[in-house]
Amino acid sequence: MERMNDKRLHKAPFGDDFHWGVSTAAFQMEGAHDADGKGLSIWDVFTEKKGRIKGGHHARTACDFYNSYKNDIQLIKELNIPNFRFSVSWPRVIPNGTGPVNQKGIDYYNRVIDFLLECNIKPWVTLYHWDLPYALDLKGGWANRDIVSWFEEYTELCAQNFGDRVTDWMVMNEPSVFTGAGYFLGIHAPGKRGIANFTKAIHHATLATTAGARVLRSKAPNGRIGTTFSCTHIEPATQSRKDIAAAQRVDTLLNRTFIEPVLGMGYPKDGLPVLKRMERQMLPGDEDRMAFDFDFIGLQCYTREIVKASVFTPYIGAALVKAEKRDVPTTEMGWEVYPQSIYHLLKKFSQYKNINEIIITENGAAFPDRITNGEVKDLQRVHFLKDHLEQLLKAKQEGVNVNGYFIWTLADNFEWAEGYHPRFGLVHIDHNTQQRTIKDSGLWYRDFLSSTTETTKLNYNENSLCHTGNR
Ligand code: GCO
Repeated sequence: MERMNDKRLHKAPFGDDFHWGVSTAAFQMEGAHDADGKGLSIWDVFTEKKGRIKGGHHARTACDFYNSYKNDIQLIKELNIPNFRFSVSWPRVIPNGTGPVNQKGIDYYNRVIDFLLECNIKPWVTLYHWDLPYALDLKGGWANRDIVSWFEEYTELCAQNFGDRVTDWMVMNEPSVFTGAGYFLGIHAPGKRGIANFTKAIHHATLATTAGARVLRSKAPNGRIGTTFSCTHIEPATQSRKDIAAAQRVDTLLNRTFIEPVLGMGYPKDGLPVLKRMERQMLPGDEDRMAFDFDFIGLQCYTREIVKASVFTPYIGAALVKAEKRDVPTTEMGWEVYPQSIYHLLKKFSQYKNINEIIITENGAAFPDRITNGEVKDLQRVHFLKDHLEQLLKAKQEGVNVNGYFIWTLADNFEWAEGYHPRFGLVHIDHNTQQRTIKDSGLWYRDFLSSTTETTKLNYNENSLCHTGNR
């Protein structure tokens, strides 16, 4: 590992109060799909359908985090990672989405939170990372406006049960992806399509984001409340007027549509004419309801996209020029490796005056990792992470208020429609045996973080109760 410890990148310039972490999500990690009274989620149902998930994979067991959370939290501790982002599975705590509570589900998250705190790791909780209770899908899911009050009920339950120990909250994970892929393209759960479903889902997800945030502010008053958005650096394929206009439309859809209403700016109809349809969803007072003064905004960025005009794509009139056709380095997802994108995006989002603080809540890459002699030499991932951190630091040094960086993800897990094929983890998982192996990227992150002052601040105590015998 010595070789990898690049002398040029140090933790200190990011500042003592910078939040270093790692991100996960319930459905991708937990498994235990029907344990202890959990209800079905839309992803449990979607993964059972033929042809939806590559290789016919499902997440009934996933990484078995439900049972192995102590081991995995021990690993986080071994890697010196002071902050852990995970999500609560809504159907685990309210099996039908609304109504009776599953106390065993609440108990499980209490155990996870308590063990994290014993290990001096801060829990960062996402309320919604895509595993909607299936019972609510049967009532229309995100296309039904009633979901705003169902979501308030769920949020209140989480605030009441976890708010005494959780301070850092993220209401939603990437609404553009779960509405776009789940309600327009139909490639994610619940597999719905069409512009009518999409515009409804956009609006209700936006209203639920700020309604949930208001519940947290009143029921968990010590909380720092954030929410996350995916973002992608967009460039036109050529400098032609048509390609530039197409790139602006894609930029509006991917980078502006979800965040601007939350910042009190309404939907960006100027950048994408089809958004005029959002007016059909608006009720009097919605402009105000959609806005909230978040303590932080989580940005999740992975790549850049090159855009050209296309008459074949309805509503947006644009197509992406795939990375594989551009002779650029790519990840296993086929996404271009382009570290400057994080710099450009940070500069772009910092122009919004009403963002208080930015945290990068996800960044990472899938590469074809292999175990050889008990080691995973994922040098590509080490470079990916370091190169992105250098770009982040550049933005920070130019005055962008970015104050955290969470790697996606702790361990190789269920990558939605792609199944288990892409491996994003700092820790390798053999999905047949559940055997964990820390990759070189994990060791690199551990060493990079070891000069930390944040662990000292969290009162890191070697003799804490954070021990488990069953590794
Ligand atoms: C997302 C989700 C994660 C993904 C990750 C890699 O951004 O899609 O938050 O669940 O696994 O981004 O695709």
